[in-house]
This record gives sequence, C-alpha cells and structure tokens, in this order.
Amino acid sequence: MCGIMGYAGHRQAAPILLEALKKLEYRGYDSAGMAVIDRGAIQVRKTRGRLQLLANMTADGRDMPGSMGIGHTRWATHGEPSDRNSHPHLSHNGHFAVVHNGIIENYRPLKEMLILKGYVFRSDTDSEVISNLIEFYDQGDLVKTLMTAAQHLEGSYALGVLSVDEPDVIAAIRKDSPLIVGRGEKENYIVSDIPAILNLTREVYLLEDGEVALLTPESIVFHNAYGDRFEKEPFHVDWDVSAAEKGGYEHFMMKEMMEQPAALRETIRPRIKDGRFILDDLKLDPDWIRHISMVYIVACGSAYHAGRLGKNLLESKLGIPVEVDIASEFRYRRPILKPDHLVIIISQSGETADSIAALREAKAHGVRTLAIVNVVGSTIAREADYTLYTWAGPEIAVATTKGYTSQIAALVLVTMYLAQETGKMSDEELGEAQEMLLRLPEVTEGVLSDHREVQRLASLFFNCKDIYFVGRGIDFSLSLEGSLKLKEISYIHSEAQAAGELKHGTISLIQPGTLVIALVTQKRLREKMQSNIQEVKARGAVVIAITLQGDEDIKHVVDHSLPIPYLSDELQPVIAILLLQLFAYYVAALNGNDVDKPRNLAKSVTVE
Ligand code: M6R
Repeated sequence: MCGIMGYAGHRQAAPILLEALKKLEYRGYDSAGMAVIDRGAIQVRKTRGRLQLLANMTADGRDMPGSMGIGHTRWATHGEPSDRNSHPHLSHNGHFAVVHNGIIENYRPLKEMLILKGYVFRSDTDSEVISNLIEFYDQGDLVKTLMTAAQHLEGSYALGVLSVDEPDVIAAIRKDSPLIVGRGEKENYIVSDIPAILNLTREVYLLEDGEVALLTPESIVFHNAYGDRFEKEPFHVDWDVSAAEKGGYEHFMMKEMMEQPAALRETIRPRIKDGRFILDDLKLDPDWIRHISMVYIVACGSAYHAGRLGKNLLESKLGIPVEVDIASEFRYRRPILKPDHLVIIISQSGETADSIAALREAKAHGVRTLAIVNVVGSTIAREADYTLYTWAGPEIAVATTKGYTSQIAALVLVTMYLAQETGKMSDEELGEAQEMLLRLPEVTEGVLSDHREVQRLASLFFNCKDIYFVGRGIDFSLSLEGSLKLKEISYIHSEAQAAGELKHGTISLIQPGTLVIALVTQKRLREKMQSNIQEVKARGAVVIAITLQGDEDIKHVVDHSLPIPYLSDELQPVIAILLLQLFAYYVAALNGNDVDKPRNLAKSVTVE
C-alpha cells in the first residue's frame, strides 16, 4: 500500500517525483524517499515522516540533480517507520536502487542466503532483499536480471529499479501489486495510481503480472513473462483532473462526501433505460442467471459492509441464499463453491490484496465472478468474469464515502437486474424501484445541503471515549459502517451491535452518559428498535437516533434525532450513512486529526 513514482525524462526528476508522490501519499505516509541518477551515481534521500519533510530536506527536490529517478511513500509492514527502513533501498554495492510496494513473504530465507554470501543489510525491511537479490543475479542485462530475481520472490511486489550500469533506464515489474506506466512527451513514468500523473499524461499502460517495462525518456519497451519484447496497447484516461484535486474543500473527505449525489447519478442513470434495468457492461448469460443457486459476496472493510446490505437485497428480492464474507476469511476457509454459484467481489480500489486472492480462489474453483469496482482497469476489474463499475470518480480520502454509497447503488442495480431477468419481480415493482433509484441523487443532495445539526452534535460529543452504534437488519449493517467511519478517522473507540444482541453482553458497558447512536430507518423493525432504545436509556445512555421524517414517537424517546426522508427500505442506508459520515468527519476534525490520512491506515490495502 505504498506509493511508487518513477520519472525518465530530460527535466529535473526530483521535483516531479515529489509532486506525484503528494498525490500518492494517501497510499502510505509514514516515510518517504527518492533516488536519482546523476553523473553515473545514485543519490538517495529518505526520511521517516510525511512527504513534506522530504521536500524540506531537498529544497523541494531542487537539491537532487538528475533526470532519472524513483520515489516512494511508505506504509510500514516490515520494520518500523524510520529513516533506514524508508525506501529506496540501495543494493550492497550501491549499483541498484529499488522502491517496492507489496510484501516479500520469503524474505527471511533470502536474507539469510544473501548474508552468507557477504551481503550487508542496512534495514529491517523485506524490501531490501530485492535490491540485494537483483545485485546477486546481475548478469549485465537488466531485463534478465530482474526476471531472475523476481523468480525467487514470493509474495507481492510492484518495483521501480534504477541501475548505475544503465543510467538512462528505469525498470519496472509487478506481481499482485498495481503499477501503471505512463507515456509523456520525451518523458515516461511509472506510478502506483493513475490520478498522480494525470497532469503529465493521459496515455497509460496497465502492467500485467510478470511483465517488465524498461523506460527511457524516448521509449518504453515491454517484455512478457518469458522475456520476449511485445507491443502493449495504451489506455486513454479521460477523467477530469479536478476530480483528483481538493477543489476548495479543506479535506478530500468533505469533497468526496459532497460528490455523492453526482457519483450516484453517474452509477445509476446509464443503467436504467426505457423502463428496464440495462447492465450491458455485464454481458451475463440470461439462461445461466436463472440457474444461480447461491451467491457469495466477498470484500473488505466498508465494501464488506456494502456487501452485507447486498445480502439483504438479493435474498429478499431473488429468494436465493447469499453468504457475505470478509475476503481474508473467505480465501482460507475453503468455502463450498459450485458451478451454479456466483461470487460477487466488491472493491473501490480494485487492488485490495485479500479481495484479489478471494477472486482468484473463486475462479480456481471454476465459479463465475462478478466485480463491483470503482477504479477502471484495476486488477479485480480486469480479472473478474463480469465487471460493473461504480462511476464515483477518484476517491482519495482513506475513509471511503462516495465509494461505499455507489457500491450500494450498484448492488441494488444488480439485484433488480437479476430479478428482472428471472421474472422474480413484477413490472410494477421494478418500475417503482427505478423511480426511487432515479430520485436517490436528488434526495442525497437535499440531505447534504444542510448538515448543521450533525455538526452541532459532533461539537457536543467529539470528546467521548466510547460511542456505540445500534440497529437491526439493514440498520445493523449500516451501524457497522457508521462505527468504522468514526473509529478510523476520530480514533474514538466504537462498536456496532445488532440492537437485539445488546442484552447478551454489550449492554454492561452502557453507563450514565454513554453515547449510543441508534439507527431506526426500517419501518418493519421500528417498534423493536424503540424497545432497544428504551433499554439503553434506562441505563443512562444518551441517544442520538437517525429516524424517518415524521417519526415523532422515536423523537420523543431519544435525546437528539436526525430525521431523514424516506425513499425505500433498500435505499435508506445510502441516505442515513451521509449523516454518519458527516458526524465522523466533524468529530475527527474537532479532535484535530488528519482526516484524509488517519494514522496507521492507507487507502488501498495491497498487502495481505
Ligand atoms: O478498495 P477496497 O474497497 O477494496 O477497500 C476495502 C477497505 O480497505 C476499505 O473499505 C476501508 O475499510 C476504508 N478505509 C473504510 O473507510
């Protein structure tokens, strides 16, 4: 989950590397570094801490001459964040510099072998074995050397490599970690994520596992996994550059929350035409759809929470059993997978290591896979049998907002489409669902346009020690997401509980003054929730309830209420979560936290 940038051109590399690394910092931000080749020697500058420290110590890169360079922003896995564990890592003789994103699982035996051969290690990282292994296998040809070294690596890697013997070349190779190659005017780039180079180029190549790219200022040469040269088709990126900028907001998270109506509109509108759900991009075989006997939804973090909502939807509308799994559990639990099962993988980034592994596990069992992904051309999008994009645009803040709500919209679309194709819902029901979906962006716009009450409540409770979220059914899944959002950026301890489960243990933690956020958006479960609220109130809890507009009874029972408009049971989570996202945002901001880059986290979790 580190960020990699490489520059091969005629301009000074370091300032360009810094500029791009700024846009990659969301991938990891506990240390940063750069290596440039100047007059045949590699110069490395690196430091623990944020990128700004690196910028300060190199006069914004001006102190590092040279027009070929690689840079890195780190999220520590092996070895604490420190100067010496920062990348790039030089090889023992200083001839190679390497930046790495991923985890080398067999680094210990490799390190022991290299130490026996006289190699000296200067860091505690797994990554340093790569530079030394490259030196060990150096045979005077960078492609062959890199491929030989890579054959001995187990785990995941995206690598940018500089060599003093080939000072006009940057080499790149990847396996299970993303790496993009960009083509510019007399300069070329490698980068972990496209938005970081959108100001430089829109022509990019998606490097596949095992492929090697050699970049000079004038050329990009690709070699396949057998070492043979081949031509690769570029991919034109037509996103709006401003989508990856803050656009006047203090934080990306606020900007992205405000972009939710547009993200929902883009995701929903093209999929509803002439009274029908049209998922042309999926190309699912209608005959096969009718035979699906079971669905697995697999994802991590917020995407998993979206998946839980998907289970409610698919089971209630299609009447087929659905299991929802955390990807890191699914991949090791040997699930029963059969040819008439469908595995749905949900991922904003499309690069989450555990989700990729789960996808591959499903494919290895011959099961069809459908991915709901936001990042175009990402690994999951490319490897799944069917891909449905959420058109939310680039999401930079670590805490996902528009990514999550557009995943729910995509799940509703998939459900309705399957129900339409299998005749499980009447035309009238489908028409009603379409109407509600089409109204959703406008309704979310309304909710986001005035959130002063959420801000006020955040100012009352921002210094709480614990906050509990409770709900039933869909609202329980929503509670999990509300709680995750709060804890990841505010650092306040928080738990989500199925409201009916409170009395089986967690209620012992409720004391006078404990804040409980109760979700009451499901009409069917409203009375039950009212009782659960009474139970915590009786133990002295202070309760904020998210209720449906006009629900006066609940309003009178709780201390504070945040009413939301009603569209349909399945779409209420999209509306309700907006308030929980805003609450988390304001609580984090009032605590003085770095909202976009919370401690210990990274945007895209490309390691297991
Ligand atoms: O890119 P993905 O959707 O696969 O990411 C999954 C999780 O890492 C992600 O949702 C994470 O939980 C977010 N930080 C939550 O805000």
